Amino acid sequence: MRVLVTGGAGFIGSNFIRLLLRERPGWEIVNFDLLTYAGNLDNLAEVASSPRYAFVRGDIADGGALEGVLGGAEFDAVVNFAAESHVDRSIEEPAPFLRTNVVGTQMLLEVARREGMPRFLQVSTDEVYGSLGPEGRFVEDDPLRPNSPYAASKASADLICRAYEKTYGYPSIITRSSNNYGPYQFPEKLIPLMINNALADKELPVYGDGANVRDWIHVEDNCRGVLAALERGEPGRVYNMGGGAEWRNIDLVKLLLRLLGKPESLIGFVGDRPGHDRRYALDSSRAREELDWRPLVDFEEGLRATVEWYRGNRAWCESILSGEYQQYYRRMYGGR
Ligand code: NAD
Ligand code: DAU
Repeated sequence: MRVLVTGGAGFIGSNFIRLLLRERPGWEIVNFDLLTYAGNLDNLAEVASSPRYAFVRGDIADGGALEGVLGGAEFDAVVNFAAESHVDRSIEEPAPFLRTNVVGTQMLLEVARREGMPRFLQVSTDEVYGSLGPEGRFVEDDPLRPNSPYAASKASADLICRAYEKTYGYPSIITRSSNNYGPYQFPEKLIPLMINNALADKELPVYGDGANVRDWIHVEDNCRGVLAALERGEPGRVYNMGGGAEWRNIDLVKLLLRLLGKPESLIGFVGDRPGHDRRYALDSSRAREELDWRPLVDFEEGLRATVEWYRGNRAWCESILSGEYQQYYRRMYGGR
């Protein structure tokens, strides 16, 4: 198998590439990534010299660049992780989200279709379904009711995948996972942000009342799910992949503080995120039954290992925290 992975220098993509190189010995991987603020080749330092891995810098919204990498080369599949991925940045400036997540996905589909790419896997998210009340879980046939510019851009990408199947007979497999956590996550996201702040004895900024609920999945479990869908999924079908670990943000932040041996007095409640989805939870029965997939990592064990990873990889963190991140943090959180 020869696979084009887009967005492979980001959090989930880099974990996915490591998984493929480890568990699929005959496979070759080309990582196509624009290296935006979230893309980091250090995430792949340990596999960079593998003869089965190559990196190409490029933009999924650039048809010429995609032709350059896909044209004539014999690939068996594309897995599209490339995206602008942070909700708060999408609220600050939606345009890059529409460009990469919508136009980019369409361009990638178009070139893949023209090149006769046998399989196309689109990595999507539970956020396309919108927000839940206290009960119930999203199933794949629920309506798409995205609430943030990020979620709307990902829902649009899912819809353009659907249109390529209905219009041109070019189907994609779509995976929709819940909130990932684990090593190499960019520290703008809840868990690494709170770990880094606690390690520096800085305030932990909890939005609103802290009672919003997320369904956490270890990145390794999501990556195994994406691989299962790539190998055994039915083209044109959507698969939810949830971790089944629902936590209120405030309880999760308190657990992190316990794991780090830091006081709860570091917690600070700040203004709420506009349009903040109250609760996400996924019903993953389809992936369990049809792909024989299930999450394996216990949440508290996975979180403990993640805390240790961030404690043990200070150079990786510091190189991010000392760059553009500082301006982002000031814009988002003011002088806190
Ligand atoms: P990330 O922000 O860590 O990484 C995104 C990667 O895409 C980066 O390497 C970046 O350089 C690259 N990229 C951005 N624009 C590009 C472009 N125009 N062309 C090529 N590459 C580009 O994101 P992540 O958290 O690893 O998420 C990966 C995918 O999984 C995204 O599609 C996201 O929507 C989806 N997802 C994420 C989560 C989560 O909890 N993180 C959950 C469900 C779904
Ligand atoms: O659900 C899947 C989605 O999970 C992915 O599609 C997105 O790419 C990914 O970023 C993530 O989105 P969320 O908005 O759920 O994740 P985030 O880590 O930004 O926030 C998680 C929760 O924590 C959310 O309720 C907002 C809250 N939060 C977040 C930050 C950054 C805070 O209370 N304080 C913060 O500083």
